[in-house]
Amino acid sequence: MTTKFDGLLAAFREYLQGGSANPAVASFLGEIDWSMPSRRLEPKSVACSVLLDRTVSLASERARPLAKLLAGYRGELHWGQTYTAEDFGQRFVDNYGWVELFGTRGHFANDKVAGGFLVLGPGIEYPDHHHVAEEIYIPLTGGTEWRMGDAGYGVRQADEVIHHASNVNHAMRTGGEPLLALYLWRGGPLAQRSTITGA
Ligand SMILES: [Fe+2]
Repeated sequence: MTTKFDGLLAAFREYLQGGSANPAVASFLGEIDWSMPSRRLEPKSVACSVLLDRTVSLASERARPLAKLLAGYRGELHWGQTYTAEDFGQRFVDNYGWVELFGTRGHFANDKVAGGFLVLGPGIEYPDHHHVAEEIYIPLTGGTEWRMGDAGYGVRQADEVIHHASNVNHAMRTGGEPLLALYLWRGGPLAQRSTITGA
């Protein structure tokens, strides 16, 4: 059965396969069965999706087709927010959102690996947090500062692979431009709320 998000899933897969020289990406890819049944989810909008046009311009050449497809589908996807204004303030809530393309609650059903996209607006700090699941982030736009464990912040470019082991603290801080990042989760509860340690 074909669904309207098949093209987005195919582009997600193609983009990841382009990064399979990275051992962590290759390992996650080995666990993803791409013949996932689709799940009917109502569209749910999020304020930060207006930033997606800008992220298409900022995306690397390799990531741009995927960013463009995501921007095109923004109004039909079921966006989520884990945090409320009580956690990090209203400005954060207005500049943050994610969409699970596949996983235990995403547009395609997968109970082993979750994958999707995170958007952060300019000038936003997503403080130190951790979760049981092992995670890969690949920023599709560069310029955001990332930190992991006890290390300080460092700028990561588009297409770099950022690998967080289970329960390792990590944080992000955008500069003057928004961030669009692809994420993958495995090996833990795939819909678990992160534990915040840095707020
Ligand atoms: Fe994370």
